[in-house]
Formats: sequence, C-alpha cells, structure tokens
Amino acid sequence: MKVLSVVGARPQFIKCAPVSRGLRKVHEEVLVHTGQHYDYLLSEVFFRDLGIPAPDYHLDIGSGSHGVQTGRMLAAVEEVIGKEEPGIVLVYGDTNSTLAGALAAAKMHVPVAHVEAGLRSFDRRMPEEVNRVLTDHCSDILFCPTATAVANLAAEGVTAGVHLTGDVMVDALRENLPLAKERSTALTDLGLSRKGYYLATVHRAGNTDDPAALRAIMEAFSRLDAPVVFPVHPRTRKKFTEYRITPAANVRVVEPLPYFDMLTLLSGARAVLTDSGGVQKEAYILEVPCVTLRENTEWVETLEDGWNVLVGADADRIVAEAERGGGGRHSARFGDGHAAARIAAIIREFGP
Ligand code: UD1
Repeated sequence: MKVLSVVGARPQFIKCAPVSRGLRKVHEEVLVHTGQHYDYLLSEVFFRDLGIPAPDYHLDIGSGSHGVQTGRMLAAVEEVIGKEEPGIVLVYGDTNSTLAGALAAAKMHVPVAHVEAGLRSFDRRMPEEVNRVLTDHCSDILFCPTATAVANLAAEGVTAGVHLTGDVMVDALRENLPLAKERSTALTDLGLSRKGYYLATVHRAGNTDDPAALRAIMEAFSRLDAPVVFPVHPRTRKKFTEYRITPAANVRVVEPLPYFDMLTLLSGARAVLTDSGGVQKEAYILEVPCVTLRENTEWVETLEDGWNVLVGADADRIVAEAERGGGGRHSARFGDGHAAARIAAIIREFGP
C-alpha cells in the first residue's frame, strides 16, 4: 500500500518519526512536508536528530493567515495526491497542515487516517480545535491516543474506524530519552542544575496575540524564585518586539530547542510552564509538575492525576502553582510506547 504522509509543523515531525519507521517496514511511504514550519530550529533539526527520511515533496508554503496558509496547502497537497495516487493519506495532530491534508484527500475520495484523533479542548476559538473536529469528521481511520479521545468521538457520533492505539509521543519519548541523556549538553551549556530552574514555552495565539495576557505571563515569570529557561517560538519573539516587552533578568530567553535538549531540560526542571499540548503530556510522562497557561486542555488525564493545573494568564496563580510544585498519581494513560507499530498494523489490515 502506498501511504502518503503529510507533515508541516514541529510536533508533527516528532510524531511521524516512530510511525514512519514502522510504516516503512510494510508499506511504501511518500512523505510530504508542507513547509508550514521552515526555520532550521523548527524543522530541519528534527529530521536530522530523529533520523526522519528526507521529504519526497517539500511544498514550501510558509506562513500566512489561516485562510491563505491552509488554502495554499490544500491546492498543493491535492496536486501531489493526483500524481502519487496513494491508497491512504496519513495526517497528524491539529495544525493547518493536518486539516489541509485531510480535506484534500477526502475531496479526492482517498481514505484519510488521523493520528491523534478525538482530542478536544471544547474551545472553538482555538484554531487547533477547528482543525481537530473537521479532520476527525473526514477521516476513515482514527487513531486515538487515549480512552477519553475515543469517548469524545463517540459523543459526536464517530464510532466507525476508531482505534485506541496509545500516543505516538510516548513512543518518541521512550526511544529518545536515552539518546538525549547521552548527547545533550544543555544543562551544562546553560549552567543549570537539576531541579534548580523552571522551563517555559509560550506560543499559542490566545496568549501571544493578546498583549495583556503575554505581559501577565512575563510578569509572573519575573517573580519566580529560580531562573526560567524560555525557548522562544518565532511568533512570540515578534510579539515581544511589537508589544515592547523585555523579559526580566531571571528569564533566560533562548532559541527554540532541538528535541534532545528539550527532553533533557524538561526532565530536569522543577516545573514547566507552558501553553503547548505536547509539553503537558511530556511533563506527565516524565513526572514533572506542569502549570498550563491556558483555561482548558485537551489532555484532561494530566489534570485528573494531579500533575497539571490550568492557570490561564493570571500572574498570581502562575507564581503560586509553579512554586507549589504539585505531582500526583501516575499510570500509563498515554500508552505503552508501541502505538506506532499498532498504527502500521491497522493500516495493513485496511489496505489492499
Ligand atoms: C503551529 C500550529 C500549532 C502548533 C505549533 C507548533 C496551526 C494553526 N498552529 O503554530 O497548533 O502547536 O505550530 O509549533 O497550525 N514562524 C517563523 N518560522 C517558522 C514558522 C513560523 O518565523 O518556521 C512565525 C511566522 O511569523 C508565522 C508564525 O510564526 O506567521 C506562526 O506560524 P504558524 O505556522 O501560523 O503557526 P504556529 O504558531 O507555529
């Protein structure tokens, strides 16, 4: 079976690494990079470090408004599907690249498989939520990371083609943590000691496009009782300039981190402050307390077990929760690290 995989943004590269390896044992894979992320540190470095095969197609779409970016991808992916005639199109997560890949395939009557199906924040103001819902509703095979995701789909009447596989990010993390320990020198490079610092990431539109929210978050960081390592996404860096925000002296602003450095800094952090979905889950798996700079999350299991807390952009709550630390119960709620193998097997059963 020819599987056409569509990726484009940083978290998708991490997810596709183990899946692609599993797929290529039994299928022919054509890898399409939409070009949604194009900076070396958001894209190429992940292909290099995770050993992802070079994309067969690079669509070079780049940045733009949602309509422009998604529309360009839709047209370009359609052309590739027309040329390659795949048996299935595989998409990941919830970005504009995900929706464009799924929609292009569905309109051409090519079956769509969605990795990380069924996630819901129930907040339609998040572009990712719109992407999730629409992608799931035009997918033929839905690979759910959690039982909650399966239930979310059932509540929307989606039950056919739904598989509980576990989360491929667990596969990626398990595979790469030993390599990170061996190869990353991030702690010594930054002069940090284990549990002697916080790690922060902020890139969601809800925080970056609201000057009051971004200011409140940065003020909270300035009040924390330890250094805050803050790898800054390019969109957030642009907003610092636009809103004239200068990070405080205890905030160590660094470039976006390669995966091995991120895993190392995350596992050594006293707590992580983030608005990323993937980081909330990685923190849970690594048993690091997480303070989520959002009002909702699609990874509710992390809250139920006590490792994560939602604080929005409220400075006092951010400081109180980060310094409190937290922690809780722990189980393999996100799977056993063999999700990628299951996905490859299910695709094999599906296809000719
Ligand atoms: C996208 C996803 C988000 C995901 C994130 C992972 C959507 C709607 N959002 O957000 O779900 O969590 O990726 O990082 O698809 N930019 C650069 N260089 C790049 C890419 C982007 O400078 O390589 C800047 C540009 O100013 C661009 C802005 O970042 O306009 C936003 O990029 P975009 O691809 O629209 O969304 P992300 O914020 O990266």
